[in-house]
Amino acid sequence: MSQKESRIPGFYRLPMATRRDELAERMGADADTLTTLDTGGLDVASADQIVENAIGIYALPLGLGLNFRVNGRDHLVPMAVEEPSVIAAASNAARMVRAGGGFVAEADESIMTAQVELCQVPDPAAARARIEGAVVELLALANGAVPRLEARGGGARGIDVRFSDELPELGRRVIVHVHVDVLDAMGANLVNTVAEALAPRLVALGGGRVGLRILTNLADRRMVRVTAPVPFEALATPDIDGDRVATDIAAASRFAEEDPYRAATHNKGIMNGVDAVVIATGNDWRGVEAGAHAYAASSGRYRPLATWRIDGQRLIGRLAMPMAVGTVGGTLQAHRGARLALRILGVESARVLASIIGCVGLASNLAALRALATEGIQRGHMALHNRAARLAEEGAR
Ligand code: MEV
Repeated sequence: MSQKESRIPGFYRLPMATRRDELAERMGADADTLTTLDTGGLDVASADQIVENAIGIYALPLGLGLNFRVNGRDHLVPMAVEEPSVIAAASNAARMVRAGGGFVAEADESIMTAQVELCQVPDPAAARARIEGAVVELLALANGAVPRLEARGGGARGIDVRFSDELPELGRRVIVHVHVDVLDAMGANLVNTVAEALAPRLVALGGGRVGLRILTNLADRRMVRVTAPVPFEALATPDIDGDRVATDIAAASRFAEEDPYRAATHNKGIMNGVDAVVIATGNDWRGVEAGAHAYAASSGRYRPLATWRIDGQRLIGRLAMPMAVGTVGGTLQAHRGARLALRILGVESARVLASIIGCVGLASNLAALRALATEGIQRGHMALHNRAARLAEEGAR
């Protein structure tokens, strides 16, 4: 599937049934496969198994992001989002990047980090020395808590010890970070299991008492990095030359780099694309959001997750952000729609999924900045928004 063309000219003009036929053919599936999307890929009985007090299912539109070429491979990208123009904008921008050869993306190994907090530690320096001296034993203990992960080639990879400020109610504290390769899982449950399993031994080594034992969503060892080269001519509008548009996009990037108020909106535009794929693939978008914004602020000042520069006759975009997503486990087991989304993407590996999501984020950012640097966001946005409003009105009648 992923080797199939992701460019489908005129796709938006086709009736939905024909779009589905087209997609099913590219997937090598029969058209019935996609009927599960009539109900969002989830039935009421499954919803009842997934959450408490269930009373139904909440739906979102699901569309296809087109034109994505990532590391030389094409991917059709399922996107679940309620905001008009996000899917069209990302697809248009992906087409511009495609004209420059496509996105280049890499994702770190799937390292998630558990935090174990030790409070009222009598001697933090001695605690650190004892914990660091027992790393081999601690890693073995961690792996013993997640034996199936270890058997599949994942498991605990390292331990860091940090001192934290003394708090009046908690005394001197030591925070132990345990880094775990969770392979293709998002991994929250795995690292939380590890944190709880290690805590008694850590407190025996470090002294004091155990505080919190939980993952950090600032998954900065699980980063995705994307580069997008865009030739000037691909950026041109009927009225404005490509080099002018490129210069103005680079200036818009600088604005976000020096102004946190602008950076927040710049990053919101990135998350338009990121969240749409994270949601469509059944992943935890709150975790991804938390990681994104914590990373954006990690220098001590809130910064953009993506920046743009001119390089010769090209505009180059670069994105770096944590991306804790999985292709197995979690909701995926119960959610046919999410499993289908992964099949449409043609992805089994969490790292490839993370790479593609980063590309969709950067495409969304490019589309927003190009619109803002040229005709403004409202014309295209409002045309689609009005269409949605008309439909809503008709629906209410
Ligand atoms: C709207 O959903 C997103 C934008 O505000 C992003 C941006 O300003 O860069 C257009």
